[in-house]
Amino acid sequence: MTANAPAAPVVSLTGFSAEYRTRLGVTRALDGIDLDVARGELLAIVGESGSGKSTVSQAIGRMLPRACHVTSGSVHVLGRDLADLAPDAIRALRRESLGFIPQDPMASLDPTMRIRRQLELALRPLGGPVDPGSLAQLLESVRILEPDRVLRLYPHEVSGGMAQRIAIALTMAREPEILIADEPTASLDAQVRDEILTLIVDLVQRSGATLIWISHDLGRVRRWCDRIVVMHQRRILEEGPTARVLDEPRADYTRTLVAAMPGRADLAAKETE
Ligand SMILES: Nc1ncnc2c1ncn2[C@@H]1O[C@H](COP(=O)(O)OP(=O)(O)OP(=O)(O)O)[C@@H](O)[C@H]1O
Ligand SMILES: [Mg+2]
Repeated sequence: MTANAPAAPVVSLTGFSAEYRTRLGVTRALDGIDLDVARGELLAIVGESGSGKSTVSQAIGRMLPRACHVTSGSVHVLGRDLADLAPDAIRALRRESLGFIPQDPMASLDPTMRIRRQLELALRPLGGPVDPGSLAQLLESVRILEPDRVLRLYPHEVSGGMAQRIAIALTMAREPEILIADEPTASLDAQVRDEILTLIVDLVQRSGATLIWISHDLGRVRRWCDRIVVMHQRRILEEGPTARVLDEPRADYTRTLVAAMPGRADLAAKETE
């Protein structure tokens, strides 16, 4: 492929719909989602609670909860139609190409294992010996300054911010091409938030990975993302380059979101006049 050839999207959802079937009845989760994500893009998905953001991220890894059923459409990841892949091929794709950064880092750490062991398993999933230097290097890559001390600790002995750095290190150890972060700083205080997001964006840019970041935080989205997808009631309401969506929102709902953004109320008011 020449440098100028249009690159195929790394993630593509086409007419994708899904619904929850529970004892209480059927609830729609996504309704006809069309979304292409380009390689190297930093994409934000924003929208109110229940609009379908997490379901989109779960669909990309074919990790929908058991009660959630696909009713139409397709998901392609790195050119492959997930519907055509056997379960072990999907697991391999997840392991080799996708990385998930969780909302609650503690939930992704094993409380019974020292940090050292968890990192060893991430670097050598089948158990073999791991060069101790590579463990320290991995922790340094997430800006943990005393790796030797941290390697000896159990998850309950570290702070929330430190746990998220470790969770990011575990994810990045596998060098994912596509990183999905569903509200990765929701459990952290404001001061640590910027540090963690700067770290994620920096790692993504250095590795050339693609970031899909689900967020409620439009201020930080403006700072870091190339493009915004706004979801509303299980559909994509509008999408476009970050500045266009935030400065010239087309949908009323997006205007409301922008108006609620700290320091942006004046602009939103001007646009609705
Ligand atoms: N466990 C569940 N049981 C039944 N329906 C569900 C369940 N989880 C999600 N849904 C349905 O799927 C829709 C989309 O949910 P999803 O979790 O993707 O939203 P979200 O945008 O990630 O919300 P939040 O910002 O709160 O995380 C919800 O509006 C709801 O109708
Ligand atoms: Mg969610």
